Amino acid sequence: MIDLNFDVLHDRRNTHSLKWDQFKDRIKAKYNVHDADDILPMWVADMDFAIPQVITDAIKERLDHPIFGYSYVSDACKQAINDWHEKRYNWSIDPKSILFHQGVVPAIATIIETFTEPGDKIGISTPVYPAFFNIPKAQKREVITCDLVDSENGYEYDFVALEETFKSGIKVYILCSPHNPGGVVWSQNDLEKLVQLCIKYDVLLISDEIHADIVFDGYKHIPTLTIKDADKAKIVTCIAPTKTFNIAGIHAAMMVVPNDSLRIKLTQNLQAHGLGEINLLASAGVQAAYEKGEDWLEAMTQYISKNMDYVVEELNKLDGISVTKPNATYLVWIDYRKTGISEDEMMQRLLVKGRLAIEPGTKYEEAGRGYLRMNVACPFETVKDGVERFKKALS
Ligand SMILES: Cc1ncc(COP(=O)(O)O)c(C=O)c1O
Repeated sequence: MIDLNFDVLHDRRNTHSLKWDQFKDRIKAKYNVHDADDILPMWVADMDFAIPQVITDAIKERLDHPIFGYSYVSDACKQAINDWHEKRYNWSIDPKSILFHQGVVPAIATIIETFTEPGDKIGISTPVYPAFFNIPKAQKREVITCDLVDSENGYEYDFVALEETFKSGIKVYILCSPHNPGGVVWSQNDLEKLVQLCIKYDVLLISDEIHADIVFDGYKHIPTLTIKDADKAKIVTCIAPTKTFNIAGIHAAMMVVPNDSLRIKLTQNLQAHGLGEINLLASAGVQAAYEKGEDWLEAMTQYISKNMDYVVEELNKLDGISVTKPNATYLVWIDYRKTGISEDEMMQRLLVKGRLAIEPGTKYEEAGRGYLRMNVACPFETVKDGVERFKKALS
């Protein structure tokens, strides 16, 4: 089948792609790199693969009807959301508990706005996806960070340190599960401890599970809402098919909120801003993805896993570079601390000498200093090119 050929090189230039087009302005402003046409972008988290044909077909089918009037998310779409999670994670999602939003980031913004006031403390474990601190800061909340511990097997929680963060009076803790940028699938034990802390300190838990579906053999994502005592905690879980199927541009996400009182408050706040709907093409895409996208996902995950193996093997040959294969995501977290190279110099080398755009670690908070994040959701040929450019930058 044509859509299962992940080797195809799609030219994404001049498609208003953040990754392929807009990055040039960003690096011009930040790193003073002007001539960027031949720089290979392996940064923002979307894929260079064609999306599953079943999603394109569903959107086309809806386009064939000539009227795009007001619409609502169908019961069949909600059923597809439930079936996917029930089958893959043994997690049954009551359609009543689903609230829709334009994305996980806007959902996090709404949750924080609903349940906290300016000046309130929000806890996060760093390094982590930038919206986790940028959104609360933009809403004038105080962000309390607690660093994850970088062990041989990747990041781990230090629960003693984390409890201090909870004791400091945080109102909300934002969990990234699986973790971006570290690619960790949190264990049952980790999640149980986290839920218990939230109960003990009466902290609202936002569980961002956007990366749940891309998990490698030997690991299993566990939805936070299926953890022991989850019903005793205040939890809002954010899910979306957008990372899984490379459809971030359709803008769709779900908040799963079984707790009635939390859901009522969130619904009221969504209504206060005229939010809570997704558009009719997004809803056709979400439904098709969850109903028919699984084969594509399985094949894509295998492909990425091989890309990962290659990158890990090649980069680990370089002096001072250390990379562990992540448990999940298509993001490789590269530790270059032992090279002694500063972040500014590393970015200059990568962009100017290597002609490669990957993410500097401090984008994920100070705890990310000395690391880089590389996106390997692209054809193997591109991955090989990226690795060669990385080597050149360090030579
Ligand atoms: C952890 C995490 N949450 C949310 C998002 C973005 O979500 P959305 O595009 O639905 O706003 C990303 C994108 O990389 C992410 O890594």
